[in-house]
Amino acid sequence: MDRFSFINNILLGDCGEVLKGLPDNSVDLIFTSPPYADQRQKTYGGVSPDAYVSWFLPKTEQFLRVLKPTGTFILNIKERVVNGERHTYVIELILAMRSQGWLWTEEFMWHKKNSYPGKWPNRFRDNWERLIQFNKSKSFNMYQEAVMVPVGNWAKDRLAKLSQTDQTRDESKVGSGFGKNVSNWVGRDMVYPNNVIHLATECANKNHSAAFPIELPKWFIKLFTKQGDVVLDPFIGSGTTALAAMQLGRNYVGIDLNPEYIDIARDRVAATQIALPIVAEENGDYQAISTSDSSREDKHGST
Ligand SMILES: C[S@@+](CC[C@H](N)C(=O)[O-])C[C@H]1O[C@@H](n2cnc3c(N)ncnc32)[C@H](O)[C@@H]1O
Repeated sequence: MDRFSFINNILLGDCGEVLKGLPDNSVDLIFTSPPYADQRQKTYGGVSPDAYVSWFLPKTEQFLRVLKPTGTFILNIKERVVNGERHTYVIELILAMRSQGWLWTEEFMWHKKNSYPGKWPNRFRDNWERLIQFNKSKSFNMYQEAVMVPVGNWAKDRLAKLSQTDQTRDESKVGSGFGKNVSNWVGRDMVYPNNVIHLATECANKNHSAAFPIELPKWFIKLFTKQGDVVLDPFIGSGTTALAAMQLGRNYVGIDLNPEYIDIARDRVAATQIALPIVAEENGDYQAISTSDSSREDKHGST
């Protein structure tokens, strides 16, 4: 299968096997939420926490091969509690992937801002998930302007009276390298976000028990790709990542093991194709270009 048989398709099969047909260095972003260890066995089969790393590594080997050197892999995962403690499979996976050749560049937190209260004897509501960033090289594409946020009310008070320290670069006292010059932000309307993403879990899609909100893949697609780039979700489920890519004018490749989810994802993609001009008008995400037209500049620009 050549690269073009994959592009803008939802494919059935084990992602580790299906991806063997995709050329090296052909994907700009991999964004995915794999089955969590031992969870949801009734809906799409689980993997035992102890076997998780050995189950996952042959797949990440393929991800590493198909990702471009400038590309990024974002893995949405959270370790579950086993026998009263957090299992270490995510930590072990990170270490094993580093041995495989990945860089563990960064970690984002998805704060689920709409969760309801609960009571457990020895812990509180699990209210966040990891989005772990892996790269092949330290020099990867990142379009930070695309995810800037309004400066917010803190600026009115904080920037009104600047101290002497605020007007020079204040280096981190603990040597972290995260120095700051507060005066740089005076008069600005938009600022860069931090690495915590606040999004509700609720989503319109009720066809998959583990679907994430479409704004989650969208945020990362904007940050790490430009229009015409290729976004791969090797555990695509109900197709949310493909829809996000389409709405932003990116190409997608989706894979899932479960034929029922393949049908759901394909139906959602078809419906999005029909609705795309309406989506464009409503939220301004999509400019009317062909998704295969990679010659167009990203409307957000690059750094
Ligand atoms: C957490 S769900 C993904 C949900 C998806 N993000 C969405 O929004 O609908 C994980 C998916 O991985 C699929 N899956 C499990 N093992 C797989 C494998 N070896 N290759 C491809 N897909 C697999 C499951 O069928 C399931 O749909």
